[in-house]
Amino acid sequence: MTNFLTGEELGAFELGKLLDRAAELKAGRREGAGRDALAGRSVALVFERPSTRTRISFEVGVSELGAHPVVLRGEEMQLSRGESVGDTARVLSRYVDAIVIRSGSHETVAALAEAAEVPVVNGLTPLHHPCQALADLLTMRERFGDLQGLRLAYVGDGNNVARSLAILGELAGVEVVVAAPAGYQLEEGHGAKLIADPRAAAAGADALYTDVWVSMGDETEAQRRRADLAPFQLDADLLAVAGEGAIVLHCLPAHPGEEISAEALYGERSAVWDQAENRLHAQKALLELLVTEER
Ligand code: CP
Ligand code: NVA
Repeated sequence: MTNFLTGEELGAFELGKLLDRAAELKAGRREGAGRDALAGRSVALVFERPSTRTRISFEVGVSELGAHPVVLRGEEMQLSRGESVGDTARVLSRYVDAIVIRSGSHETVAALAEAAEVPVVNGLTPLHHPCQALADLLTMRERFGDLQGLRLAYVGDGNNVARSLAILGELAGVEVVVAAPAGYQLEEGHGAKLIADPRAAAAGADALYTDVWVSMGDETEAQRRRADLAPFQLDADLLAVAGEGAIVLHCLPAHPGEEISAEALYGERSAVWDQAENRLHAQKALLELLVTEER
């Protein structure tokens, strides 16, 4: 695997190994598991958009692997003054061993990866959020053991998070069902079942998942989105039709009372805090694999 932009770069076996390693790094964290894996390396973390979890989990993760994180905001780089993405990639490649980037344009991330001589990791674009899906699968595996045959119902906006869940869920053998209103549904072709009825999606599901109704970049449509997506709230009614041991997932940040009820978010079925923590462990395993693999 050279880059990690959509999750399609991984094979099923490799994904299983990555999740195994993430679990190992998590269990051994306090004993320093993976401490020297990237000793002497550096990783650039470029953020053109806000982030709490991705930014902090990558910065802490890089440092726990023994490498140096170079955190960069888009506006402090010459990129913001017109230096090309290609030139930026070529120059960063001479300094660092990997580049993680969050951008408002998937094309920018793809172009960066094209020109870079080091692995590039997508830290979220409007199209994909594959690092999130790794943590989501790790969380489901912790709760249920084997991923094969589990059913995950994603309810709400068919966005970057839903797309990455569809792609990586299929690879892991998880049945992903996305319930979204017309105009907000994912395109076919990622392996997920696409339907309109949130209750039908939730029926018998092992995990109920939702994400914000107004993603970064969607702010001008906020009012319309909140109105259209209102029937798709993840709440107690939806949980009542899910499987007996079903868990609640949300990539965060959450808006209790909008896409998820406070009861569901903070209730006993919620796994969202473990899910947020698992970003750290999954991304450490990903970086180990990308940076130490022969290119
Ligand atoms: N879930 C997630 O990516 O959160 P941040 O936007 O805070 O990084
Ligand atoms: N879909 C959201 C995810 C935030 C982590 C967004 O793109 O803003």
